[in-house]
Amino acid sequence: MGADSVRFWNSGSGLLLVLFLILHLGGVSIALFAPLSFETYAAGLHRSNLLPLAELSLLAVALMHLGLSLFKLIVNRRAGNRALLVSRRGDLLAVFAARSQAIGGLLLLAFLGVHLRQLRWPRPLAGEELAALRAVLSQPANLVFYLFAAVAVSLHLLHGGEAAHRSLGILDPVNASLIRHAFRVLALLVGVGFIVLALLLAAPELQLGQP
Ligand code: HEM
Repeated sequence: MGADSVRFWNSGSGLLLVLFLILHLGGVSIALFAPLSFETYAAGLHRSNLLPLAELSLLAVALMHLGLSLFKLIVNRRAGNRALLVSRRGDLLAVFAARSQAIGGLLLLAFLGVHLRQLRWPRPLAGEELAALRAVLSQPANLVFYLFAAVAVSLHLLHGGEAAHRSLGILDPVNASLIRHAFRVLALLVGVGFIVLALLLAAPELQLGQP
């Protein structure tokens, strides 16, 4: 596989994972506003014949993203490319996001292992999804881990979004600033969204409309 194909598939798979994250955040957020509808939504999703296919596709995309990212990292290191990124715009956040991309990716992988073990294997029984979620997040160590993961996902997205567009050849001097700002806003919304979600699920008394 040539360098261009690696960049293309790595970026494409990354953007598909962003789409999953947005849908995931939206789906789980229903728990905050309408707990009963959330249980109905979760039970309906689990009954769907299409779910195994969707889960396998998600796994394939995630493995592709992970594999190609590691491949790129190894090739870069072998080529002796250890240059540290500096920003001509003096953008410290962008520099931090870029430098933490590999370690953040690994943290997210570790988070996924724990997260899926807690909520996917085994999957809570129908009608018990929200109780299982609250039981996990009410433990301080879990909550802190979820908050870290939310920050990691936000930073990963902040750098990954712009880098993916550059790799796909979509970024040019005219649209660069728009794409950079759009992904910055998206990264912020996703990060803050998961942080608020985790905090409110951990402390249901803070939620509006809770008895
Ligand atoms: C506050 C933060 C989060 C909450 C409350 C949450 C909640 C959940 C729940 C309830 C499930 C089980 C879904 C089911 O029963 O099928 C789940 C699955 C999953 N979550 Fe999260 N999640 C959070 C953050 C994340 C993040 C940051 C990622 C990615 C980095 C992620 C990736 C996944 C994946 C891949 C699955 C498995 C999907 C499937 O197999 O159907 N989650 N999450």
